[in-house]
Amino acid sequence: MTDLQDTRLMNTYPPQPVTFVRGVGSVLWDDAGRQYLDFLSGLAVTSLGHAHPAVAEAVCVQAKTLLHVSNLFGTEPQRQVAATLDRLIGAGSGRVFFCNSGAEANEAAIKLARKWAGPGRHVVVSAYGSFHGRTLATLHATGQPAKHEPFQPLPEGFRHVAWRDIDQLAGCIDPTVAAVLLEPVQGEGGVNPAGAEYFQSVRALCDERGVLMIVDEVQTGLGRTGAWFGFQHYGVLPDVVTVAKALGNGMPIGACWARDDVAAAFVPGDHATTFGGQPLATAAARAVLATMEAEDVPARARNAGAYLAAGLEKLPEVKAVRGLGLLIAVELDEGKDAGRVAAAALDAGLVVNAVTPTALRLAPSLLVTEAEMDDAVGILERVLGALGAS
Ligand SMILES: Cc1ncc(COP(=O)(O)O)c(C=O)c1O
Repeated sequence: MTDLQDTRLMNTYPPQPVTFVRGVGSVLWDDAGRQYLDFLSGLAVTSLGHAHPAVAEAVCVQAKTLLHVSNLFGTEPQRQVAATLDRLIGAGSGRVFFCNSGAEANEAAIKLARKWAGPGRHVVVSAYGSFHGRTLATLHATGQPAKHEPFQPLPEGFRHVAWRDIDQLAGCIDPTVAAVLLEPVQGEGGVNPAGAEYFQSVRALCDERGVLMIVDEVQTGLGRTGAWFGFQHYGVLPDVVTVAKALGNGMPIGACWARDDVAAAFVPGDHATTFGGQPLATAAARAVLATMEAEDVPARARNAGAYLAAGLEKLPEVKAVRGLGLLIAVELDEGKDAGRVAAAALDAGLVVNAVTPTALRLAPSLLVTEAEMDDAVGILERVLGALGAS
């Protein structure tokens, strides 16, 4: 344990086993000078790796140029990032609201859906096993009842259906429903892809019933799954898309995109945030998106994801490997405790996490090299072997 345990931090996270002080690419160093391979990327955030020179330079230049003026005035990076996101989402006719996190992006989407649908149609339907954030509304949208209990009563207007069950969803959409909110791959729920058939059926159902299809791309967006956005694997275009995590490569930023006519439901005074879209965060995001396009990160994630999954599948203690691109879960053999394996991997110099009690999550930088993937698979092989033998 480190000195951090003696700080005045609230007790919202488990004890922090390591204090990191520096990172470059896929490599992190702790306060004792030990080196680690980062295959978690701050929970799918540092998709371009640590201290990416283009992002670091953009942040430094912007910090010396203009830090903040509020949303009462225009700033250039904000407009440029909105235009790029709109182009990458593939509609070319949407609008973006900037905020500071994934939960805030989903809050914006929920408020927008309510405003768009009008009085009496305010319910948002999401799936069991989902994760959409920790604010009161996004916590209720999150389909994990155990997380709700200590905070009841939560804001009214949320319903949950079984994941990938189109009949249950159809039965749940009554005239009070404004929107359906889904992840293309349930990330925190265990890295479970929705699949093209389900997403296409959801799109058709939303069209038929006149409700919005909101896709939460907070964890999956911006190349992680091998496409710019997870929904693009499934051949659908949502009405609203939320992003965060990788957009700033570590600078806090979130965004809610909506089709033009849906976005038009918001008028001045409906929604706002002091920091959302401010120049430092959007200058970082502008550099992130430019670098991602130059590197063609979706193709890199597809290729690297296939390479990494093939290496992981060969490990004797691995039951199954699932996911899309470089968002991967490794389901361990019966009797293996993923938390124990993740802790042992950290001791051995590899950062991953236990996404379920029996599965590890791997989300390395999208610029990860084959040599780094070989090293990571080698560390896991040794760790699994040692734990199996103990
Ligand atoms: C799919 C999804 N939505 C929303 C969130 C919440 O994002 P944040 O922690 O930035 O509020 C997360 C975070 O893990 C997520 O994975």
